[in-house]
Amino acid sequence: MTEHVRPSCSTGKLRILIRSSLFSYLILPLVLLQLCSNLASAGSPVKFLPGFEGPLPFELETGYIGVDESEDVQLFYYFVKSESSPETDPLVLWLSGGNCCTSFSGLAYEIGPIKFEQVLYHGTLPKLLLNPYSWTKVASIIFVDLPVASGFSYARTAKASQSTVLQACNQAYEFLRKWLVDHPEFISSPVYIGGDSKAGISVPIVTQLISDGNAVGIEPHIDLKGYILGNPVTTPGDGNYAIQFTHGMGLISDELYESLKLSCKGEYQNIDPSNALCLQNMEAYNQASNHFSASFAHILEPYCPYASPKPNNLFTGRRSTIQVFCEKTRELKIQELAAPFTDGYRLVYHWANDESVQEALHVRKGSIGEWIRCNCRYPFIRNIGNSLPYHANLSIRGYRSLIYSGDHDMVVPHFGTQAWVKSLNYPIIDDWRQWILQGQVAGEEAILLLSTSLLNVEQCLKGGYLISLYKQKLFASQNSPSRYAYFQGVAFLSK
Ligand SMILES: *[C@@H]1O[C@H](CO)[C@@H](O)[C@H](O)[C@H]1NC(C)=O
Repeated sequence: MTEHVRPSCSTGKLRILIRSSLFSYLILPLVLLQLCSNLASAGSPVKFLPGFEGPLPFELETGYIGVDESEDVQLFYYFVKSESSPETDPLVLWLSGGNCCTSFSGLAYEIGPIKFEQVLYHGTLPKLLLNPYSWTKVASIIFVDLPVASGFSYARTAKASQSTVLQACNQAYEFLRKWLVDHPEFISSPVYIGGDSKAGISVPIVTQLISDGNAVGIEPHIDLKGYILGNPVTTPGDGNYAIQFTHGMGLISDELYESLKLSCKGEYQNIDPSNALCLQNMEAYNQASNHFSASFAHILEPYCPYASPKPNNLFTGRRSTIQVFCEKTRELKIQELAAPFTDGYRLVYHWANDESVQEALHVRKGSIGEWIRCNCRYPFIRNIGNSLPYHANLSIRGYRSLIYSGDHDMVVPHFGTQAWVKSLNYPIIDDWRQWILQGQVAGEEAILLLSTSLLNVEQCLKGGYLISLYKQKLFASQNSPSRYAYFQGVAFLSK
């Protein structure tokens, strides 16, 4: 295993050394500057990526930054420079959602400049295409693999391999400070923290840590503007809204819904074991929801009956696209779902585990075993389960936030997001209305609330799956399209 120790090139030390003698005034600065420019950078440019034809038409840098005691936590990142005006455009730190998922998901499946060609895996290195709806058109984005176990990030000691949400958030803040010191050209950039799904807990915490750090003069000062969240996990009660969601989507009957509401009184997750009627209704609900989808993160994705070792009898006659999809998925033995009609998420395993790819990404040889898109290799303790108090704090402090929500996600249903957003009790500055794009209904949106100033607008957007699949230009992502609202992000970051 090769180790690259990140040399520290603190300007403070440099200044002291320079002042020490006339010699240093004349010669040492040159030597040191050269040394620093050669060694100080944590990252290296990536000009070509296997699977992508020709040189990359955007600037990509990858590398590691060590955080925590003795920098035992080595965080891997992908940095994509803004394709517009990187000197003045916002800088976004993107944290991935899911259970220890790599931020590469953000880059290749959500808001970044590349995407996989959507075909079934056929034995050769998956192809990468340009995503014309990348947020990097208007912002520079650092995608960091965090917590320590995720993606290409790794720990150098057993102790460093374990973490909690709060530790990971502190590491994100330390990462960003060190990254900025390494990249002084971005030190005055307006900064946003962003993420989706489970990052709904960490993004507001990291944002508050930066705000607190700035307030007590921690260097470097970060020009923090706000944060962005898509379908964010926020309160422990979010999951209760899955029932309202399935009813709203026409998946359960009015009768069952009314009976659930009456008997369970809004609590569907921690059911009182003596509440027989609620339990009975939940049983009926669970029966119905068994066939909703392969992935509750996108209820229109195909349902593949994984458990059955025998060929399933769901499909008769000609093999359908869905059947091929399900068979392939099973073949690959990857029990990870969430990709509409393609094996999009599976392709990345073949790509990221390829030696030529890891070489191109400057991945340290032998630093991790198999690359897995989402995997908590080491204990990761979710010691904070509610980020609502952080949202409240941040809006009082005047930070801007964009909260958007795709309306086909049953894991973090938009009803739940609307509920906590409403609970913050901001004045409504615009009525709920349809969102029209190019003469078409693209979803519904409501600028639901507003905190302390007119600039600090939280927006709740409903994006539709069908719309985004068939009119992809409206949305950024190809795989969980309803969850990522290209235009919303771009408009927000461009303001
Ligand atoms: C919100 O901010 C206040 C004041 O800065 C602080 O005391 C409190 O701990 C913060 N809340 C959370 C959840 O961090």
